[in-house]
Amino acid sequence: MPPPLPAGTGPIVHLRAGTVSVLLEATADRLPSIVHWGPELVGLDEETARSLVVGAVPLVGPNNVDVPLRAAVLAEPSSGWPGRPGLRASREGRSWSTRFVVSELTLDGLPVTGWAETTEAMVVVTARDADAGIDLRLELELLPSGLVRQRATVTNHDAQVLAVDDVTLSFPLPPEADELLDFTGRWGRERLPQRSPLVAGLHLRENRKGRTGNDSAYLLHAGTRGFGFASGDVYAVHTAWSGNHTHLAERVFTGESFLGGGELLLSGEVRLTEGASYTTPWVYGAHGHGLDDVARRFHSHQRSRRPKVGADRPVTLNVWEAVYFDHDRDRLLDLADRAAALGVERYVLDDGWFGSRRDDHSGLGDWVVSDEVWPDGLHPLVDRVRSLGMEFGLWFEPEMVNADSDVARAHPEWVMAARPQWPVESRNQQVLNLGIVGAYAHVRDHLMTLLDEYDIGYLKWDHNRDLVEAGDQTDGGRPGVHAQTEAFYRLLDELRAAHPTLEIESCSSGGARVDLGVLERTDRVWVSDNIDPHDRQHMLRWTTQLIPPEYLGSHIASGRSHTTGRVHDLGFRAATSVFGHLGIEWDLARASDDELAELRPWLDFFKEHRGLLLAGDVVRMDGSDSCVWVHGVVAIDRSSAVFAQVVLDSPRHQPVTRFRFRGLDPERRYAVRPALVAAAPSGLAAPPWWGEREANGAAYPGVVVTGAGLAHTGLASPALHPDQAVLYLATAL
Ligand code: GLA
Repeated sequence: MPPPLPAGTGPIVHLRAGTVSVLLEATADRLPSIVHWGPELVGLDEETARSLVVGAVPLVGPNNVDVPLRAAVLAEPSSGWPGRPGLRASREGRSWSTRFVVSELTLDGLPVTGWAETTEAMVVVTARDADAGIDLRLELELLPSGLVRQRATVTNHDAQVLAVDDVTLSFPLPPEADELLDFTGRWGRERLPQRSPLVAGLHLRENRKGRTGNDSAYLLHAGTRGFGFASGDVYAVHTAWSGNHTHLAERVFTGESFLGGGELLLSGEVRLTEGASYTTPWVYGAHGHGLDDVARRFHSHQRSRRPKVGADRPVTLNVWEAVYFDHDRDRLLDLADRAAALGVERYVLDDGWFGSRRDDHSGLGDWVVSDEVWPDGLHPLVDRVRSLGMEFGLWFEPEMVNADSDVARAHPEWVMAARPQWPVESRNQQVLNLGIVGAYAHVRDHLMTLLDEYDIGYLKWDHNRDLVEAGDQTDGGRPGVHAQTEAFYRLLDELRAAHPTLEIESCSSGGARVDLGVLERTDRVWVSDNIDPHDRQHMLRWTTQLIPPEYLGSHIASGRSHTTGRVHDLGFRAATSVFGHLGIEWDLARASDDELAELRPWLDFFKEHRGLLLAGDVVRMDGSDSCVWVHGVVAIDRSSAVFAQVVLDSPRHQPVTRFRFRGLDPERRYAVRPALVAAAPSGLAAPPWWGEREANGAAYPGVVVTGAGLAHTGLASPALHPDQAVLYLATAL
């Protein structure tokens, strides 16, 4: 093998956007490396850029290979790289190790041979391993938000089939980033944070559930030790894919570390015939100062999506926890009347309206309105909802069937299975193989028929089980998760093309399908089936690490939580929910007059402030007491903020000391006052700065402070019981 070409002799590209820089070099005989990803490199020119590239070449270490070990975005063992390979593929044991040679690097479509610097742009690198008969196309894009994303396409050029096992793209970390933060969870308690040191070896999070998963890694961060919401140099990676996937952090013996991600492919799942290609999902990288900065980049990216999800999110009523499967027409009409009277703007009919679906044992997959419960179709309900001025939404679970359904009886071969026996059931259901043309058409046609017949503005798209042994019975049981995920995306795309104003919610046993892949095509996620506000404080705090608040389904439920049995005041339930896309999931016929009198002002408060709550920058304060949280939203122009002080357990100190809130303009003056929307929390003791309550008993005058004063000096806290919250409004004078 000839000695490698010296570093810095090939094209070098410097991308800058949103205070982030990516410096990429692609010497011809090897795949490109990210020499720098992180804080913006100001003042760089060709000479200094080349110096950085050359300066990053490490020593040849003792007892190492005799060439410098340089990591590529797709790591290749042929370069001597000792870590996890970026591509694992073979033709029955041949072509298993690649040595790609770069043929071209383009920047926004134009070839680059020397040095190029630009703002956000797309770099495409094409490379070929002629011996192995494999072509590679790498795409790296720096987005206006400062996010960088990568994906790869592998193409087979040989007559013999190429089985692709794994393609992982990586992002380099500085050595100081040696603490990890990612997530786990379960049904009803999604996105639980976990921290660990980044040590030598592999921190590998594999998801084999065929959906994003309620225990998914979600976002894998690495940062300087103890990084917080506003502190530390933080790097994060997210695989934008709703099927099996990986997130990983690796530190090799040289001390170099990486974050990476990709799709997790099952054995034999991707087999490329001659000329065929496989493309990975986008793998996103975010760098920021503190976790809020990382979150802000993801929010700004999601907010740039078209069609745009605005802040004018309609207050929603979902009937699930109100009636479950009891589809009594009069009861549901009455619920619509009660909802409209409160100011609800969207009414969603949940599970139980179709086929023999009177409970969760049968009927799933038979997407025809049930004569038994809806003898006149859904028209009486849809008409009532529309005439009350609300939008109508309907629940579906398109990828699933009960064994006891007409569709599963007619087409048992459409059920995903790796062997003649079907997989273990989960929630009494099986997965319909949308990779089969007939099964896909069955679901699409039924959905389209219903969308044509009824005035439906919103779909709640559910997915209530993990995929187990999800094979294609019509192809000898071959793995089908990749094809299923693609078919799911295709179906969403088809429906949206036919009904451009239709909104779709991604629900999956609660929050088990929350990722940037599904959010390219859906407009809301259901955060969790657990609506207990104490637990929701945790889940909202961490779901916003990736997803902006306007996408987070956030409901006020009954006083006693159906999932935890805990009882909470309406004030705490509402003060928690207004930081997302607000809804109600409660049998209003059972709410007392006092509760309804309290609920209405909360809906009004949300409507008055949603333009701020759902469009601003999310701020989460680091605190010395883990029982007392302060979080909120600051208007992009810094003219106002809404924030909450939340007590989640008995605080360490009594009275709780001062709270602070950052993000406002340091020099501007703001009127800060508590917003006691309906009733004040029971037992509340107000600190002196609130002032005398005004004559009508509603408002306290508060004080005028600067943004810097609020951020650094703070204001005295009121006394609150556990599971109580106070909201504050700050308005620039
Ligand atoms: C899932 C969803 C719930 C509800 C039920 C209906 O659990 O997360 O919100 O729609 O299915 O069966």
